[in-house]
Amino acid sequence: MVTLLENPFRVGLSQQKTPEPSILVIFGASGDLTQRKLIPAIYQLRKERKLSPETTIVGFARREWSHDYFREQMRQGVEEFSDGIGNEEIWADFAQGLFYFAGNMDAPESYEKLKVFLDELDGKRGTRGNRVFYLAVSPNFFPPGIKQLGAAGMLADPLKHRLVIEKPFGRDLGSAQALNRIVQKVCQENQIYRIDHYLGKETVQNLLVFRFANAIFEPLWNRQFVDHVQITVAETVGVEERAGYYDKSGALRDMVQNHLMQLLCLTAMDAPNALNADSIRNEKVKVLQAMRLADIHNLEKSAIRGQYTAGWMKGKPVAGYREEPGVNPESTTPTFVALKLMVDNWRWKGVPFYLRTGKRLPKKVSEIAIQFREVPLLIFQSVANQTNANVLSLRIQPNEGISLRFEAKMPGADLRTRTVEMDFSYGSSFGVATAEAYSRLLLDAMSGDQTLFTRADEVEEAWRVVTPALSVWDAPSDPSAVPIYEAGTWEPTEAEFLLNRDGRRWRRL
Ligand code: BG6
Repeated sequence: MVTLLENPFRVGLSQQKTPEPSILVIFGASGDLTQRKLIPAIYQLRKERKLSPETTIVGFARREWSHDYFREQMRQGVEEFSDGIGNEEIWADFAQGLFYFAGNMDAPESYEKLKVFLDELDGKRGTRGNRVFYLAVSPNFFPPGIKQLGAAGMLADPLKHRLVIEKPFGRDLGSAQALNRIVQKVCQENQIYRIDHYLGKETVQNLLVFRFANAIFEPLWNRQFVDHVQITVAETVGVEERAGYYDKSGALRDMVQNHLMQLLCLTAMDAPNALNADSIRNEKVKVLQAMRLADIHNLEKSAIRGQYTAGWMKGKPVAGYREEPGVNPESTTPTFVALKLMVDNWRWKGVPFYLRTGKRLPKKVSEIAIQFREVPLLIFQSVANQTNANVLSLRIQPNEGISLRFEAKMPGADLRTRTVEMDFSYGSSFGVATAEAYSRLLLDAMSGDQTLFTRADEVEEAWRVVTPALSVWDAPSDPSAVPIYEAGTWEPTEAEFLLNRDGRRWRRL
């Protein structure tokens, strides 16, 4: 039996923590992320009594808003984007701790004034000089914001000052390295929380528990038994109102370098020595260091891009990407990416990891599928020409759960086989909805737990892996060179070839 002391899940991720009272300063407070995600997530924590009542939030943005107007906007966010206000007394108490500060992220005087304001709040609210600065702004404001916070001495205390940085962290390897240098000049790595909201998802954390709290899967989790792995993150939404950002980024930057790579790392990593931030991040970095595109000289054999054209979603016509408002009509930005990656280490040598993600696909679904090798000899040939290989699929969202596909004998006198599934579902096993990713991440940042945040070397390695594809796709090219897929259909045919060439197929989800 594993004793409590030996059990690594007793520390780190599983710990119930109430962070010390602190002031959370959100830069970009008038933006969408604050209203839709951050404030609803913090309020949820407050309702669950996971935050101390002294916790204080200061929204920083350019517009001249009053504290009361800010509170009203945030209330609307909670009403619209979460399960509501609930008890009015809790809201009233929470709203008392919401403040607004109008400032300019480029201007040193804004930080001097902010500092005075925060010191005053310390006296009123009992927040003891603890600060979490959250950059929920467009990435061009990261460098000035970080430099100014540093110059104003607001990140000087490694025990009391933390910095949370939203994605995207850089737009290629060079810019990510430059941004890391800027941050590391003003604070230590243990003060920096780089957000990847996929790590806040319950099902993503469950990957660790599933792999390392169960003994039966790990012996199979390697090149001897696994044929290949497919990771899919499919979305039905198009570019929406984000063309300004998205047309300069595309799916490789927006989804693959961060979210899909993190899913791959958690799937492929070795067991960490303990459940703490550095043990886990060390193992993830090792996977990234061993990772490469399958064929960097023939990109069509390892990296396929695609762009959606007009089509139909849920019975309604939708525009093609190049017709979307704000998108360059000649744009070559990919809205779909499929990669074939190899991890050159003892565990995975020769096992392909196929990744795909796209917008305007038929379904919103994210899953990791581990496809095992075929049986070495099919003794049921007389009754079945072919059986299906076993697949373990980890459903990240929606319908969160895990299923194992295997062959079974059909009832009856004949010996006939059929593929069936054993299924675990979060909903029916636990009867509660999975928690919102941002609640988890904010709680961890306020408690000083970096486990679910990406480290400098991790971000840089992930950029390195995608660089050969980025450098080709970023170069000016004829728009007709980009493979297309109709909105509401799965991948472009070129992406099908990526697997067909290896005698495999994408899963139909
Ligand atoms: C964000 C991307 O990081 O993740 C968006 O910028 C994408 O383009 C979103 O839609 C998907 O997140 P989720 O949690 O809905 O899968």
